[in-house]
Amino acid sequence: MTLLNFDLWTGRRVFVTGHMGFKGAWLCALLSRLGAETFGYGWDPRPRLLYRELDLKRHQSLEGNINDTAMLGAALTGFRPEVVLHLAAQSLVLPSYADPIGTFDTNVMGTARVLDAVRNIPSIRAVVVVTSDKVYRNNEWVWGYRETDPLGGKDPYSASKAAAEIVVHSMARSYFADAGAARIATARAGNVIGGGDWADHRLLPDAARAFSTEQPLPVRNPHSSRPWQHVLDPLAGYLMLAEQLLAQKPDPLGAWNFGPSADDVLSVREVADLFAGAWGGGVSWRAENDPSQAAREAGLLAIDSSLARKELGWLPRWKAKDAVTRTASWYRRNTAGESAVVLVDEDIRDFLDNRFKCADAGV
Ligand SMILES: NC(=O)c1ccc[n+]([C@@H]2O[C@H](COP(=O)([O-])OP(=O)(O)OC[C@H]3O[C@@H](n4cnc5c(N)ncnc54)[C@H](O)[C@@H]3O)[C@@H](O)[C@H]2O)c1
Repeated sequence: MTLLNFDLWTGRRVFVTGHMGFKGAWLCALLSRLGAETFGYGWDPRPRLLYRELDLKRHQSLEGNINDTAMLGAALTGFRPEVVLHLAAQSLVLPSYADPIGTFDTNVMGTARVLDAVRNIPSIRAVVVVTSDKVYRNNEWVWGYRETDPLGGKDPYSASKAAAEIVVHSMARSYFADAGAARIATARAGNVIGGGDWADHRLLPDAARAFSTEQPLPVRNPHSSRPWQHVLDPLAGYLMLAEQLLAQKPDPLGAWNFGPSADDVLSVREVADLFAGAWGGGVSWRAENDPSQAAREAGLLAIDSSLARKELGWLPRWKAKDAVTRTASWYRRNTAGESAVVLVDEDIRDFLDNRFKCADAGV
């Protein structure tokens, strides 16, 4: 089992949108470690960003709106990337209720604008558009959703990501069907965790904030189950997908799930227990009763990643329990003064080394 093709990424020119966000920062750090040249495009007004704490090599950054057609086009034209990874988004469910129009503008029109700009850049050979596991019509099934299941979305965020899927597949068929055109696919992953996420309304950042000030963590929906995974797992999947697109291999669906194993689903309660245990010092959490809020967030939602496993050779490297305890340790050490550069690099090194361990073991 191989993970990433290191040689392929050395010196590769990769354009990342949403680079200042949580996944974008980790992705640029991973690409930097693989030797790629990255250009980040996006903007992020949040006061604390992992991205700003990293020391990225061979990296340029431009702070611009994804819907600024002229600025986006000029950035792509100037950089001449071979690979585009589109992550910029309004990425949270609860704020999408407060600002549905902004969410649709960024997530749907922003995606259309990225692909429209890509049409004019001949150097681009592969585009991965990151959507979400929430693109599926959620029937609260116990089994995992497959790429062929119907799209849906009861809240504005989920609907915007499902709509982005339709935009991508229509544009791929309309403008990128010829031989030699850029190859395009969507990537659907679930909740990710890892150090340095400081977003509101996410369990682990909320836990780190609460525990670092010795407060109990308020937990919504403790009995909900979620497919937790470490951020590096789907990021490796996105890059493996890009490798596949660069190789021009057949891709009849153009949509790929990257979720944890079916037996690796944890409840919110289990995650809160694990995180508090790994943090130590007697920290605790309490269930928060807010039925109106609970109804606004989906219950069980798992995805089936058999396609990525079979066709890309992608497998989650870290079990949910390991991802939670590793993340708790990241935040605790960072709170104690260790730099994000060191902590991110340590996780990336461990993650990539696992590849060699797995390869040696013939997994
Ligand atoms: N983190 C998760 O658990 C998760 C789960 C499923 C899907 N996703 C998807 O993965 C991608 C990355 O997620 P993330 O967790 O890093 O979220 P994030 O919010 O940290 O990152 C998104 C980035 O896009 C930026 N952005 C928002 N509007 C923009 C605009 N109009 N122009 C330019 N930039 C803009 C944000 O400010 C942020 O920097 C998103 O597309 C998200 O929907 C994330």
